[in-house]
Amino acid sequence: MSAPNIETIVSLSKRRGFVFPASDIYGGLGSSWDYGPLGVELANNIKKSWWNWLVYERDDIEGLDSSIIQNRLVWKYSGHEQTFHDPLVDCRTCKGRFRLDKLQDVQCLNHPEVHPGEDKECSLTEARDFNLMFRTTMGAVSTEDDPAALAYLRPETAQGIFINFANVLNTSRRKLPFGVAQIGKAFRNEVTPGNFIFRTREFEQMEMEYFCRPEDAGRIHQEWIDGFQEWIQELGISSENLKLYEQTKEELAHYSERTVDVLYRYFPEREDEEKQWDELMGIANRTDYDLRVHSKKPEDAGGKRINPDSTEDLSYFDPQTNERLYPYVIEPAIGVNRTLLAVMMDAYLEKTNDKGETRVILKLKPELAPIKVAVLPLAKNKPEIVDMAKTIKRSLQPSMRAVYDDTGGIGKLYARQDEIGTPFCVTVDHESLVDNAVTVRDRDTWEQERIGIDVLKDYLQKSLA
Ligand code: GAP
Repeated sequence: MSAPNIETIVSLSKRRGFVFPASDIYGGLGSSWDYGPLGVELANNIKKSWWNWLVYERDDIEGLDSSIIQNRLVWKYSGHEQTFHDPLVDCRTCKGRFRLDKLQDVQCLNHPEVHPGEDKECSLTEARDFNLMFRTTMGAVSTEDDPAALAYLRPETAQGIFINFANVLNTSRRKLPFGVAQIGKAFRNEVTPGNFIFRTREFEQMEMEYFCRPEDAGRIHQEWIDGFQEWIQELGISSENLKLYEQTKEELAHYSERTVDVLYRYFPEREDEEKQWDELMGIANRTDYDLRVHSKKPEDAGGKRINPDSTEDLSYFDPQTNERLYPYVIEPAIGVNRTLLAVMMDAYLEKTNDKGETRVILKLKPELAPIKVAVLPLAKNKPEIVDMAKTIKRSLQPSMRAVYDDTGGIGKLYARQDEIGTPFCVTVDHESLVDNAVTVRDRDTWEQERIGIDVLKDYLQKSLA
C-alpha cells in the first residue's frame, strides 16, 4: 500500500516537519518549499545512498561539485540559450498562463473543474517559446539590461561536468569508460510548477555523466537503465509503482539520441491509469554532443560547430587504439525532491490498532529514516528513569541518529515515531532501574522485545543494517 495521493504527504510533511511552504509568513512564494528537520535528514540520506552506490561502491566514478553560476558562454554553446524553451499559452478569459503540453495537469482559473482550453469560454493565445533559464546579473555595477553582466542560474548540473571533463580526466588519470557524479541545485523558471515538490523552480539534481567509446554507448545505456531501476527499488519503492517510458523523437531534448524515463505512480487517485504516472528520472544517451560543442577544435565535418570562445579541446586520446575521439555520454539524471516524494508516498501505510484506531506508519528503509531510534521514558516525573533514558540516548547518538522524547503518553509517542518512520523506539521503565534492560519496539510489527542496555547499541546496529 502507498499514499492515496500527494495531498496526504503534503499534510504529513507539514504536520511532522518534513517540508514546509517557503516564505509562508509572507504569503508563500509560488511552489517553493523548505525542508524541515526531518525532510533535510531524509533528503541527505537519499543523497548519501546515491553517492555511496556510485562513487564509493564502484571503481569507475569520480565526484564533482561545480558552480551554480557559470560563464554565460556555457549556456550559449550547450544550446540552452537557443533551445531550452517551453511552449507557453495565455488564456484571454481567465488570464492564466499555462504550458501548452501540460494543459491536462492544470486548472482553468475561472472554472477549476476543467482544464484550460476545455471550457468553451476559454480563448488561448498562440503558443510562444519561453526560455526556462533564470536570469541574473553579475557584479556590483551591473544593471538589468547590461548584456555583459547577464548570467544564468544553471538549469541542469550536467554542464558543470562537461566543462570540467579535461580537468577530471587529467587529474584522476582515468581511462574510458568512467563517470563523474554531481549533486546540486538547479533552477528552471517553470511555467506551471506544482504538485507539491514534484515540479518546482528551484530543485536539486543527482546527475552522473558516464563517458564511454561511441560503439559501447548503446550497451552501457541499457546497463544504467537496469541499474537505476534496481537502485530505486533498494530505496524501498515497489516495482508496481515504477515503469519505463521511451521518449519519442519529438520529446527528446536537443542533445539526446535516446532517452528512457523511469516513471513513478505519483497520482494513484486518477481514474485514467495512463495519467497516474510521471517522470522520476531520465536516462539519456547524449552522444558526443556536449564535449564537441564546448571544444575549441571540434573535429566535425563541415565545421558547423566551431567554437571560437572555448580554450580547450575536450576530446580524448585512447592509448589502446591510438586514436583521438569525442566520448559519448550516458546520463542518468534524477531529482532529489522527486525521489523524496516517491519514497514517502511508497512508504506510507495506514494500520489499525487494537482499539480500532487508524495509525500512519512511514515504512522507510532504516538507511533512509531521518531518526533511527527514539528513547522514551515511561514515567517522565521519575528523575531516575529520565536520567537513564537521556544517558542511553547520548550513548547511542555517535553511532546513529537518536532522539529523546517525553512530551506525551507512551501511546502518543509511539504513534508520532511511526508516522515519521523511526524504525525503533526504546522505552525505559521502572523495571529498567532494576534489570538494566529496556523495551525495544519495532515500527513495522509493533512487537516488543526486552534487551539489556549493555548490548542495546549492537542490537540496534545489527537490526538497522
Ligand atoms: N541533465 C539532464 C536533465 O536535467 P531532466 O529530465 O530535465 O534532465 C532530470 O531533469 C531530473 O531532474 C528529472 O527527471 C526530475 O527528477 C528532476 N527535475 C527536473 N525538473 C524539475 C523540476 N522543475 N522540479 C523538480 N524536479 C525536477
